[in-house]
Amino acid sequence: MPKKLKSRKRPARIAVGESGVHGRGVYAMQFILKGTRIIEYTGERVSWEAAPNDENDPHTFNFGLENGEVINPEIGGNNARWINHSCDPNCEAVEEDDRIFIDAIRDIEAGEELFYDYALEIDEPITEESKKKFACRCGSSKCRGTMLDLEL
Ligand SMILES: C[S@@+](CC[C@H](N)C(=O)[O-])C[C@H]1O[C@@H](n2cnc3c(N)ncnc32)[C@H](O)[C@@H]1O
Ligand SMILES: [Zn+2]
Repeated sequence: MPKKLKSRKRPARIAVGESGVHGRGVYAMQFILKGTRIIEYTGERVSWEAAPNDENDPHTFNFGLENGEVINPEIGGNNARWINHSCDPNCEAVEEDDRIFIDAIRDIEAGEELFYDYALEIDEPITEESKKKFACRCGSSKCRGTMLDLEL
């Protein structure tokens, strides 16, 4: 029987910092192996209709689920909310049982910013104007110029 017992905090795998793409972003603090489940996108679940939205503001934290609900990280959210979009991402958002997880789809080196493809959906036809409103600044050679999902 041990005389002393303590829990051990693992070193942080990710951290929030200033992003070269937009505002704050999330960075790997250590090597992350392809396939690693990095973090859950947490927050309050609300209906799409009740989700906070300013239609003139392309800045969004709402994450849409297949069941029509939206995760709003302003209540109960974590650092996943700061992960930026890239058209050539190193992570993907995976939905399982109405939960969203961010998984590494490539090996990620310490110091790299984490990105997933937002594939944003809007409730109107995509136009050149809406593509510009949701313009992407990921800077990758595969950049499609917008954070909108063009494959709908
Ligand atoms: C969930 S927030 C990500 C955190 C954000 N960087 C911040 O500091 O608030 C999503 C918003 O960040 C911005 N953003 C993320 N990735 C971007 C990109 N590749 N190009 C342009 N804006 C981006 C957009 O305004 C988007 O709606
Ligand atoms: Zn892009």
